Amino acid sequence: MLDIQKIRSDFPILSQKVNGKPLVYFDNGATSQKPQVVIDAITKYYSEINANIHRGVHTLSQLATDAYEASRKKIQTHINAKFAHEVLFTSGTTHGINLVTNGFASILKPGDEVLVSALEHHSNIVPWQMLCEKTGATLKVVPMDENGELIMSKYDKLLSEKTKVVTVNHISNALGTINPIKYMIEKAHEVGAAILIDGAQAAPHLKPDVQELDCDFYTFSGHKICGPTGTGILYGKEEWLNKLPPYQGGGEMIKEVTFEKTTYADLPHKFEAGTPNIAGGIVLGTAIDYLNEIGFENIQKQEKELLEYGTKRLLEIEGLKIYGTSKEKTSVISFNIDGIHPYDIGTIIDKQGIAVRTGHHCAQPIMNFFCIPGTIRASFSFYNTKEEIDLMVEAVKKAQRMLS
Ligand code: ALA
Repeated sequence: MLDIQKIRSDFPILSQKVNGKPLVYFDNGATSQKPQVVIDAITKYYSEINANIHRGVHTLSQLATDAYEASRKKIQTHINAKFAHEVLFTSGTTHGINLVTNGFASILKPGDEVLVSALEHHSNIVPWQMLCEKTGATLKVVPMDENGELIMSKYDKLLSEKTKVVTVNHISNALGTINPIKYMIEKAHEVGAAILIDGAQAAPHLKPDVQELDCDFYTFSGHKICGPTGTGILYGKEEWLNKLPPYQGGGEMIKEVTFEKTTYADLPHKFEAGTPNIAGGIVLGTAIDYLNEIGFENIQKQEKELLEYGTKRLLEIEGLKIYGTSKEKTSVISFNIDGIHPYDIGTIIDKQGIAVRTGHHCAQPIMNFFCIPGTIRASFSFYNTKEEIDLMVEAVKKAQRMLS
């Protein structure tokens, strides 16, 4: 069993008061809080080894380069990528997806098809729409059902030799559904399509094994896994990263530049133009170490208990409906209360120190499917407790009384 109080003491922000009440932070789907080791590692980097990387012969530059590349290797091991050069540092999931869609602009032709799922965040819809506009390819959508599960029989039917790329999130940010990505990857490959997995909401809860999954791309953000904002990872299979053109031109991504022609650097540098978020990349490794020390099995156990308890307690509230009731689900509860706008509940419970996200969660097509303007979303992390859930339930009841 995890010692939750000890874990909570690692996170200075959790002992804060907000609006005079102890903070109950249930907006982990938006971003996670940071443990002291992560905060300290940022200070240590800037106090001791700050220098630009891959450029200088001087000692600090070498120390910074070694720390940055050591972090890349750590992340390679964490996601079980075959090569460290298949691990690209990005500014976050959105950057990772745009890097891939930009690359596919030189591959797709009119008549080709791109499959996206109905459960996507806008960041995994809009870049693909832009790609289709640019290339004349057609965007098709894998539908979902009332539980918030993708309909696999429809997916099978949509796949054909015209499908060039499939994109799907591992876990839905709005509903918490865990998608059957292993099956989807196998099926995409049967028709020769590439597949990208948006792991933004999965990486906080599990350790993706990209070789076992056999996905072509897997991308996630650092800030949702206790790391700094402005960090992220795009894993790409070597053969795909060699096939795709660079995303941005600039320093660091070249082999040789003349006014007649430029040749590009080898992986991973071909995709890492300019000075990166060096401190962020290094400290992302610290965050991953921290999570691995806690252990993903322990994290999952704690979050499963919170999901079950939170679901049971919230359903005691009259007129409350939960959206996202899939069998495979992570610790996200999206809900509404009859006749009350989610924004009003969110605002009132904030006064009780409770932080949840309200609105469409950057997933308007999901809200349209349910014919609602948005939901109240409580997303739990391993550092949350059942006592905090009790506080939220009481605050929601109070809000309901005030608004009815
Ligand atoms: N994608 C993040 C969320 O779901 C910001 O809240």
